Amino acid sequence: MPKNVLITGASGNLGRSTVDTFLRDGYNVIVTVTPGKKSDFPAGKHLTSYEADLTNEKVTEEVVKLIHKQHGTIDTALLLVGGFAMGKIGDTDKDALTKMISLNFDTAYFVARPVFEIMKQQSGGRIVMVGARPALHPSEGKNVLAYALSKSMIFKLAEFLNAEGASCNVVTSVIVPGIIDTPANRKAMPDANFQDWVSPEEIARTISFLCSEEQPSFREPVVKLYGNS
Ligand SMILES: NC(=O)c1ccc[n+]([C@@H]2O[C@H](COP(=O)([O-])OP(=O)(O)OC[C@H]3O[C@@H](n4cnc5c(N)ncnc54)[C@H](OP(=O)(O)O)[C@@H]3O)[C@@H](O)[C@H]2O)c1
Repeated sequence: MPKNVLITGASGNLGRSTVDTFLRDGYNVIVTVTPGKKSDFPAGKHLTSYEADLTNEKVTEEVVKLIHKQHGTIDTALLLVGGFAMGKIGDTDKDALTKMISLNFDTAYFVARPVFEIMKQQSGGRIVMVGARPALHPSEGKNVLAYALSKSMIFKLAEFLNAEGASCNVVTSVIVPGIIDTPANRKAMPDANFQDWVSPEEIARTISFLCSEEQPSFREPVVKLYGNS
């Protein structure tokens, strides 16, 4: 019986590679995409797509409940939705801060909350969230303050979930990519050495390893994938 993996942000750069990797690994892949957006996922009986605005708590809770009802279990949840904004403290008013927290933290929290309860009841599961390097390095974070603050909450959330998850075999990992080699980043930084960046495929393979049966008994894993940048 294939395991069920829920992947949010599945239509993004990292999301698409992660969908491909988990399909290849033999999972039953369940994805969420933003309402109305066209997606070009490979058709097949092992991929099911749901539309949901994950910044909306009620909508998110309902879609997770529907997925659980229709698929029976959620063994693994990969919470990949996120976005970026520049700005030092002088540029970062409440609106700017709220926008980043909504996109980077709420979208993970609103999914993690019902998923965690489901995993507790089914005696275990794996959750993976995406952090960011500026949240760990103040010299970088000062230039992208709202982004760094919103991502720093991801690390704390994972710690708290791992404290509760220790008794019910739910392990939450945080992947910390450096600059991901995406078309948007190449356009924004045309003079950079793209070889130094981390590819979506490498991150997807690492996420797959973290979620695999062979995974050692990691507690509170935080995995940094910075490439050579
Ligand atoms: N790119 C980097 O260099 C980098 C570096 C460090 C960390 N990260 C983190 O890595 C993760 C993936 O990055 P990426 O470059 O693959 O991002 P991306 O290509 O911009 O993809 C973001 C995904 O989030 C989805 N999304 C946005 N708002 C949503 C909403 N309200 N409800 C549901 N889905 C929503 C998007 O869907 P639609 O396209 O349909 O709107 C898209 O699938 C993010 O958490 C990001 O912060 C990225």
